[in-house]
Amino acid sequence: MKAVLQVALLHRVRSSRGIELIRHRHAVASAALDSLRDKAAPSLIESHISLEEGNFFHVDLSCSTIIYVNSLALANETLLRLAEKLSNELPRGALVATLKALESPGLAHESSVYLQMTFGSVPTRVLLYIRTGRSRATLLRKLKARALCSLGRAPA
Ligand SMILES: C[S@@+](CC[C@H](N)C(=O)[O-])C[C@H]1O[C@@H](n2cnc3c(N)ncnc32)[C@H](O)[C@@H]1O
Repeated sequence: MKAVLQVALLHRVRSSRGIELIRHRHAVASAALDSLRDKAAPSLIESHISLEEGNFFHVDLSCSTIIYVNSLALANETLLRLAEKLSNELPRGALVATLKALESPGLAHESSVYLQMTFGSVPTRVLLYIRTGRSRATLLRKLKARALCSLGRAPA
């Protein structure tokens, strides 16, 4: 939740969205956001930030340009599926930051940075990937999705 909020408060983004699978964790994050609503820029929180309880495999990411995956606890099989999804859905040039490596031909490892997290006593490596080229069929799908994004509509 912190990252979702921080991005919206510090940068000019159209929206900042967090997705969490476990109901209890989502509820804790939502309660924290609610308690901030009256203190920190309520209209910005209202219009730019969403916290959703759900499975990221069921979420359309084709309008997303920067993704952060807190992936330390994800199983290898999940990471593979996620890399595939990001590779298929994200627009070209999108940036993916992840704590564990993602293997897909559509994601190019750009660099790594070491950041101090709220957990751990030493900085953690964050891997940065760029969504690279794609097939012609995917390109056409993306162009359609981008047109819908610019109209403020989610792709079907
Ligand atoms: C390291 S914890 C991060 C907790 C918290 N969401 C945060 O970012 O600070 C990783 C989280 O990923 C969530 N997760 C695992 N698989 C997921 C999925 N398919 N969709 C959404 N969240 C998932 C887990 O429930 C877990 O809470």
